[in-house]
Amino acid sequence: MKQLIIRKTEEIENWRRNINSEINFIPTMGNLHNGHIKLISTAKNDNSNLNLVSIFINPLQFDNKLDLENYPKTIDNDIKISFSNGADAIFIPSNEDIYPPNNKNIKFLQAPIELSSALCGLNRIGHFDGVCTVVYRLLNLIKPKNLYLGEKDWQQLLILKNLISTEKLNVAVKSIPTQRDFDGIPLSSRNVNLSKNERKLISFFSSELLEAKRIFQQEKKISLRAIIKKLSAKKISIEYLEHLHPHTLQKARIEDNISLLAGAIRCGETRLIDHVFLMKRRPIIAIDGPAGSGKSTVTKLIAKKLKLLYLDTGAMYRALSWLLIEKNIDYKTEKKFQNILQNISIVFKSNKNLHQDVFINDYCVTKEIRSQEISSIVSKISSIKEVRKFLVKEQRKIGESGGLVAEGRDIGTTVFPNAELKIFLTASIDERAKRRKSDKNSKDSQEIDIHTLKELIKKRDFEDSNRVISPLIKANDAIEIITDGYSINEVVDKIIDIYNDKIPKETQNQ
Ligand code: PAF
Repeated sequence: MKQLIIRKTEEIENWRRNINSEINFIPTMGNLHNGHIKLISTAKNDNSNLNLVSIFINPLQFDNKLDLENYPKTIDNDIKISFSNGADAIFIPSNEDIYPPNNKNIKFLQAPIELSSALCGLNRIGHFDGVCTVVYRLLNLIKPKNLYLGEKDWQQLLILKNLISTEKLNVAVKSIPTQRDFDGIPLSSRNVNLSKNERKLISFFSSELLEAKRIFQQEKKISLRAIIKKLSAKKISIEYLEHLHPHTLQKARIEDNISLLAGAIRCGETRLIDHVFLMKRRPIIAIDGPAGSGKSTVTKLIAKKLKLLYLDTGAMYRALSWLLIEKNIDYKTEKKFQNILQNISIVFKSNKNLHQDVFINDYCVTKEIRSQEISSIVSKISSIKEVRKFLVKEQRKIGESGGLVAEGRDIGTTVFPNAELKIFLTASIDERAKRRKSDKNSKDSQEIDIHTLKELIKKRDFEDSNRVISPLIKANDAIEIITDGYSINEVVDKIIDIYNDKIPKETQNQ
């Protein structure tokens, strides 16, 4: 495909009509650096769409005329960088193209007050309105499938996601983590304006934020006052330093597992922002749902793709059932049973085929727990109050430092009520009966007619939802996904998209 430079809005429309592909869009204001390169190359490696980079210094988002005049302009180099890193086309419109005089069709937008009045919005009046207006205009012209943005401008990212949702634009936002320079400062087009001394101060500011993150990992608390004191001692002029909820930008609450520590400082004429995410533990995904919804397959694949631990709570109930049979223990003689629970250890370990083995008191029981004998008693065992209490405690122990995806029936409601992402996976009775009928590993498929299968599923749903101990209920904050008509991979991708939308990329490898 020829590398193309487009300058007029009409040409964009023609190009779009003539290409037989979806578009990845990377908006920029030029003076491209490694952060932009990462955006372009991520888009290129993500899919086979065409990659369009725009270069437009948007006057509406500058609250200071001098800042606009001084904004670095390096267009020839930007063109080279874009093409050599995967751009298929570059859009370089003029001011008149984006904002034609007297064009009543241009929609001037206002960023939502809740998000735009915090942090940078405090001192940059109208800045986010300008960003929303230009991005809305560009998205309407380009109609991309994906929009690539950096997490460095976290507040901008939140505001643009909000814009896309309120304006019902059909585009997915893909974010990339803040890219840092050799001295730890976030890459920014404005860095070229820094003197050596200013750069040193900013590097001190960034390293203080990274240090706060390190301390938080150990102590689970943060002192803004201590950071401010250190910065002030270096005569660094702080515009703001805030500890906030990463999505609402309201003050961080004690129960927030992930929070945002964000600051802006001024060095001479240059104002620089930086942030880190503070995490008490790595994220947890809870997947609940009825039998036959595809939970296990989906959960395993998500764990693999996101490099999370797969916590198969069902396997824990089965392992315990196995031990009871193996040791000939009558679980109805309660006193003895309590003692046994106290001496049980259940652990998961990856085997050499990269699958997970389950061990109970050092016995590997991965295969044994799938027997018909276990299937016939596991439901009974798992409805015993003490068993539930014991295994929920064990599951929470495994989840203490997070970094897992757990499936079951009470994960989002009982085991991990603070999970960052809760999914309630379900499918219609018809679909689940169809799936069971075509399941080669299930004896049911050969022996039971579809009508009876539907009745059995209805009965199981009723029992699961109405049992006294840990019934199957959708947590209030769970997202329901009805899997009818979707392939396993489509469901997995959908859940991963929701995860990426909720969990900053920057925290995903911490
Ligand atoms: O982040 C930027 O460079 C700009 O704010 C954007 C998104 C290109 C809009 O002008």
